[in-house]
Amino acid sequence: MPRLALTINGQPQTLDAAANTLLLDLLRERLHLTGSHRGCDTAQCGACTVRLNGKAVKACNVLALQADGGEVQTVESLSQSTKTGKTWHPMQIAFSKHHGLQCGFCTPGMLMRACAMADEGVPAEDGAVRQGLAGNLCRCTGYEGIVGAVCEGMRLMRGEVVEATDAGL
Ligand code: FES
Ligand code: FES
Repeated sequence: MPRLALTINGQPQTLDAAANTLLLDLLRERLHLTGSHRGCDTAQCGACTVRLNGKAVKACNVLALQADGGEVQTVESLSQSTKTGKTWHPMQIAFSKHHGLQCGFCTPGMLMRACAMADEGVPAEDGAVRQGLAGNLCRCTGYEGIVGAVCEGMRLMRGEVVEATDAGL
């Protein structure tokens, strides 16, 4: 069984995994990082989106072996626990402020794709954001809130606007 060495949410990990193990299964079943959701299992919905070496990928469509030596970030990496509570990522704050979620099933994937888009230089504009999110589906169809959240989240991440509120988080 291949031995993998990778960094997950900043932590070095060494794991044995069968050659056909999906990255999503490694994260959810082996490491109990269940924030990455399994929706379609066929690379259609984006609920399983994580970042691999900075790029947004669908973890149901990537072998764990393909991540060997790489750096994986899951939605769990976005917030930090502190003595006084949690510190939320600017994109999470924007989702809360704009009501960018309903049932929340698509949200982890949306957040990870949105953060990658911010780093890719996608303009914080309605059309560009909708195009960037084309591979992430929301079954609750709350796209208006999601797009508004991603636009503001990208501006916050780029320092173009100041974080004015934590939106009650
Ligand atoms: S579960 Fe991976 S894209 Fe739907
Ligand atoms: S908020 Fe329910 S699937 Fe998107």
